[in-house]
Amino acid sequence: MPAILWREQMELGYKPLDDEHKEFVEVVQKSVEAANVGDFATMEWVFEKAYDYARDHFSHEEEVMERIGFPDLENHMKSHQVFIKNISELRQQYEVSASEHEKRQLAMKTADFLSVWLIGHILSRDKVYKPYLVRLRNMPPRMNY
Ligand SMILES: [Fe+2]
Ligand SMILES: [Fe+2]
Repeated sequence: MPAILWREQMELGYKPLDDEHKEFVEVVQKSVEAANVGDFATMEWVFEKAYDYARDHFSHEEEVMERIGFPDLENHMKSHQVFIKNISELRQQYEVSASEHEKRQLAMKTADFLSVWLIGHILSRDKVYKPYLVRLRNMPPRMNY
């Protein structure tokens, strides 16, 4: 499975969220590398980071979307919740898997899910609120972070 790299089309033009997305791209890249070689210690780290990322980044992003008055916030939040459910299920399956073969298969499945989800979500879902980010410019500096 090839590793994904940060692409310019993923850029939203709002540094705090772009930096978080870049961080997630790194986690996804690690998952691909770890799955390819069967590096289980790194996979544990990936599950931990993917979950932490989801919790922190999604709540930040949802808070920004609310601030800029993004009209499709509710559906976007649902998409985030589905990710959390999926990654939690994969983690659970990974933790109870008994054989090395099973673990390797789940690592591949997870890396695949993370890669597809990340590209799809940033390019098709996060991109939709990009035009609304200009509203941050008219906000007082305290709110414009
Ligand atoms: Fe999102
Ligand atoms: Fe995002």
